Amino acid sequence: MAPEALIIQDALSIELIRRRLSAQVVGRQIYLFGEVPSTNETLRHLTKAGAREGTVVLAESQTAGRGRLGKAWFSPFGVNLYASILFRPTISPEAAPVFSFIASLALADAIRALGLPAAIKWPNDILVERKKVAGVLAEVATAGDRLDYVILGVGVNLNVDRQALLEALGDAGHAAAALRELTGKEIDRNAFSASFLNFLDEWLLVYRDRGAAALLKAWRDRDILTGRRVQVREQRITFDGRARGVHADGQLVVEDSKGLTRKVVAGEVRLLD
Ligand code: BTN
Repeated sequence: MAPEALIIQDALSIELIRRRLSAQVVGRQIYLFGEVPSTNETLRHLTKAGAREGTVVLAESQTAGRGRLGKAWFSPFGVNLYASILFRPTISPEAAPVFSFIASLALADAIRALGLPAAIKWPNDILVERKKVAGVLAEVATAGDRLDYVILGVGVNLNVDRQALLEALGDAGHAAAALRELTGKEIDRNAFSASFLNFLDEWLLVYRDRGAAALLKAWRDRDILTGRRVQVREQRITFDGRARGVHADGQLVVEDSKGLTRKVVAGEVRLLD
């Protein structure tokens, strides 16, 4: 293969991202890889070796990209965003679910800045026209009863083909989309990455300055589920009900068909209407 055949048109570039980065904490250190098993995993190793808060790991592809609830995250080369960011907030482990909302808020803002009506589906999925375009995998490490660090891993379908989504995800591909097909334009991955990291830094500062209540308010403004009929699958239990919003602890409140109020910790939620 000729060497030029290996060059991707819109390759991720730390320099091009830095040119647009105005963040104070996020992106203090940025690592970019061609291929890793999972950026969350790579960042976990760097964290153990002493990485600072705000360290970012980016990759052009992942061979074992992970989603929530043990699912895989489709991570083809050179078309999307796969990023993990390290935080060391001085909060209790119980506060981590709400802290993780900084990632979905930043994603929603970065996608809205492209002119798309992004909404958040609990806990941290981003939907546009009811199709999932991005997700967040939050991984928390504790030391005794203290929170040691949080890694927020985000995957965004930017320029991946519809055909590739369908081939990789099967029927689930119909519930997913890429920002390119929604805007009708190729997404500049470096510009999008910088925009997301800038918004992430802003939401981190909001959390530091104004606390969880400010995040919850913003998150509720972008929430697509409240008032809608949903199906919840949690471990081996499935039930239908109506979403009643997010509780102050970050759990989803659902009123089931018998009128009982139930809190969802880590389930999968499907919109029914
Ligand atoms: C989900 O919606 O299920 C969460 C998807 C999170 C995917 C991202 S891609 C970058 C980071 N590394 C991973 O292995 N997963 C997250």
